Amino acid sequence: MGRDEKVTKATGSELPPARTAANRETPGSVQAMFASIAGRYDLANHLLSGGMDFFWRRRASRLVKSWAPARILDLATGSGDLALTLSMGCPDADMVAADFCLPMLAQASRKGLGNLVAADGMALPFLDQSFDAVTIGFGLRNMASWRGALGEAFRVLRPGGHVVVLDFAMPQGNPWRWVYRQYLHRVLPRIAACVTGQKSAYDYLGESIEKFPAGPQMKALLGDVGFVEADWEPLSGGIVGLYSGMRA
Ligand SMILES: C[S@@+](CC[C@H](N)C(=O)[O-])C[C@H]1O[C@@H](n2cnc3c(N)ncnc32)[C@H](O)[C@@H]1O
Repeated sequence: MGRDEKVTKATGSELPPARTAANRETPGSVQAMFASIAGRYDLANHLLSGGMDFFWRRRASRLVKSWAPARILDLATGSGDLALTLSMGCPDADMVAADFCLPMLAQASRKGLGNLVAADGMALPFLDQSFDAVTIGFGLRNMASWRGALGEAFRVLRPGGHVVVLDFAMPQGNPWRWVYRQYLHRVLPRIAACVTGQKSAYDYLGESIEKFPAGPQMKALLGDVGFVEADWEPLSGGIVGLYSGMRA
């Protein structure tokens, strides 16, 4: 499914259209964008989130740990922070970290992360049913098809395996939503421009968050792909969502 298609569930949850003139990125431009900020990605993350990104990844890691997976795929691993957090939380698990942006993988490698695979989340080079858990931290939003990427996660998960999606969301309800929107579109890109020299990448961040399914919409999408027991935990007042589902 292209991201501009809609999914309507019986619950009435509807995924918003995602590809518009303002959302004109292609897989190649997403790769180039992350390549351009790779060296400063971590610093920008920690700064712009006020350090909350450590907490978000630890929360995801605790959830994954509760399933005691033997083999984990961290997809869209980027500079590897979620994979490293997972490795600490699940020290006995076999961890594979994949991303399609080589400069981001180079950052992960510098931090000592092994088992790095250059791979596109839309066409994973892994066998069916080969992982117990697949995690996607702040990466699904950037993919050409959310459903396609979740379908690939589903394919490589064994029955009983879990997917975890950690990503930004628009908080529900004013005035917090209004305040957050001001930060996202007016303040954050300016600070990010100073840190990374790439304001456009962070203009894109705000646009992509506005269009990304959040809360019940993401749960509906997970169910639509075939995951059962879809769950959602809003973090930090709803600016981040922690989603999970199980392959039955
Ligand atoms: C915002 S970073 C997230 C990195 C890391 N997971 C984290 O928690 O900080 C998003 C990553 O998704 C990767 N990505 C985007 N689309 C992808 C795709 N189709 N296949 C593989 N990786 C992709 C980008 O290259 C980038 O490294």
